[in-house]
Amino acid sequence: MSTLFTPITLGDYQLPNRIFMAPLTRARAGSNGVPNALMAEYYAQRASAGLIISEATAVSKQGLGWMNAPGNFTNEQQEGWRMIADAVHEKGGRIFQQLWHMGSIVHPDFLEGELPVSSSAVKQQGALTTPLGRDREFVVPVALTEEKIAYIVQDFVAASVRAIEAGLDGVELHAANGFLIDQFTRDSINQRDDKYGGAVDNRLRFMLEIVEAVCNAIGSGKVGIRLSPTNDVWGIKDSDPTATFVRAVERLNTFNLAYVHILETKPGLELLEESGNYLTPLLRAKYLGNLLINGGFSQAGGDDALKNNEADAIAFGRPFISNPDLVGRFQYKKPLTEPDSATFYTHEEKGYTDYPTMDVVG
Ligand SMILES: Cc1cc2nc3c(=O)[nH]c(=O)nc-3n(C[C@H](O)[C@H](O)[C@H](O)COP(=O)(O)O)c2cc1C
Repeated sequence: MSTLFTPITLGDYQLPNRIFMAPLTRARAGSNGVPNALMAEYYAQRASAGLIISEATAVSKQGLGWMNAPGNFTNEQQEGWRMIADAVHEKGGRIFQQLWHMGSIVHPDFLEGELPVSSSAVKQQGALTTPLGRDREFVVPVALTEEKIAYIVQDFVAASVRAIEAGLDGVELHAANGFLIDQFTRDSINQRDDKYGGAVDNRLRFMLEIVEAVCNAIGSGKVGIRLSPTNDVWGIKDSDPTATFVRAVERLNTFNLAYVHILETKPGLELLEESGNYLTPLLRAKYLGNLLINGGFSQAGGDDALKNNEADAIAFGRPFISNPDLVGRFQYKKPLTEPDSATFYTHEEKGYTDYPTMDVVG
């Protein structure tokens, strides 16, 4: 029976605990997506996590549509990530980089007026801040040709190789939350009639091509993937999430990945707009490797989930924003500091690197 403090072997790594830091976009990179010393300090402060999963990091300019979010597609960005990896390792931690292509969620304002891409020319609901203003509504994207799909698979490979070369410990493929991979997986957006659309295995093809290519490039023990089967973010939905995501994890079984990461809120925890079904127990039964789960967990909730064998590790998001020493606070049963959502996506030190440690809190 495991607890949050039971060590775990995960892919190529031995980790001292099962308290992982969930990926958290914090918008502290510059407008060119280059990570900086402030970000290195932030991640180093959180190095006692069993594993840090970095904020979503764009694999290409075309995939980057969030103000001041980082990329890993230029040499300058890679050098920034090297500084972060070194800072985390110096404190004894490990860090995977979450790799991201936002697809149709990228506003043309980020692309000098060019249209974003997706599986199909279907607009997602919502708006984001862009360099030209707030609440800029998403547009109808261009459906990718098969040739361009192959280029994007290579963008994921290139970013993975850059991550490993920069000293990061692995990558997490962001297949959740309505971004490009999810725009292929779920059928409210994917309306293709070629080998990337229609039947579940076709809709999963893009994801699995990326998984296979990235595993071949850096080794499957350094690769995780994140899925969010039931959140209906940006209006993206699937008509049968059970069939789609059971098939996804069955197919993922063949890759011997470091882990599969499921973001889903347990019933009773009101967090995300979800379609009702809680699929994690079924996905746990179908997936043979390490399962990481996330979504509103407290220390007690995480420990219970591990004791009940609902997962192998727990990712904590917001608790890590405001408690850099979350692991120590859990260990010594210290109260937690609440995060300030007003500074989640602001661009400076306040609300980022200035949360106190428990010895300061007392
Ligand atoms: C400020 C903020 C930024 C986030 N950024 C990301 C991200 O970059 N990638 C991702 O997959 N999820 C992202 N999420 C979702 C979190 O990883 C996590 O799933 C969510 O906060 C629920 O976990 P929690 O209840 O432990 O906070 C973000 C959430 C927040 C609050």
